[in-house]
Amino acid sequence: MSFLKNNGYEYYNLKEMLQYTQMDEDLEELKQEFSTLPVDSYAKELNRYRRYARAVIVPGTDEVHWLPSVHTEEGEMYKYFQGSFNPEYTNAARDFPAISEKIRANKLLNDIVMFDYKQTFWREEDMLLPVHAGIHFVKLEVENDEDIAVSSPNHLHQDGEPFTFAHLVHRQNVEGGLNAIGVPEVAGDVPENVDDSKLLKQMTLTEPLESYGVFDPMVSHYVAPVTKGQKNEKGQRSMILIDFQPTVCPDPDEISAQLKKSKLVFAK
Ligand SMILES: [Fe+2]
Repeated sequence: MSFLKNNGYEYYNLKEMLQYTQMDEDLEELKQEFSTLPVDSYAKELNRYRRYARAVIVPGTDEVHWLPSVHTEEGEMYKYFQGSFNPEYTNAARDFPAISEKIRANKLLNDIVMFDYKQTFWREEDMLLPVHAGIHFVKLEVENDEDIAVSSPNHLHQDGEPFTFAHLVHRQNVEGGLNAIGVPEVAGDVPENVDDSKLLKQMTLTEPLESYGVFDPMVSHYVAPVTKGQKNEKGQRSMILIDFQPTVCPDPDEISAQLKKSKLVFAK
């Protein structure tokens, strides 16, 4: 029985569910990667930092295959394409700095990707081809009392990818960051303006590896902005976000039309 399948969302405590001997060391290594995140160049004013990577999982193999990054003048990057549901970046391809090769080999990260993948459910034909995973390291960081760090988009929304999982890696000296899950109809609103009966869950992740997943067609989701807490140190909230999509084969006429009007490059 899957709570996620029946309800469209589920909470997980992966610190308990993924236990192994070196876990704390691997978690520390993941946490360190967040100190290297560059500013999210698509949200410079929002106190948001990020890296990204892509992987595929061939159904039945239990292995995460990381796709190659691309080397550009700005360093090692991954291309990112989001579906049409994020109103801020409809149909735009974005370049994100890559999650480092060392971290892509981190056992805990690979275990998390595989754990999430095992929660997902598909049509039988989707299991004949690789499932695509997008892995985002996202940090909200606030240095001054008046700073506010905001997630995108800043209201209840659906992502467009069938599944998204969110894993807390580190949280220090922040206030806010409430997560809310709602029915799809409240997408576009903030939880304060929504009738309680339309909100399925509200929670604040505070411990490392506290996590949740959503089945996007069934629910909308939201994370509130964060501000600096009382202590005399930076406020930080570091999350790993992982989304999954099937390999999609468009109909032949669509492929022909697209190929005719696109700039084409040889297979590598
Ligand atoms: Fe989202």
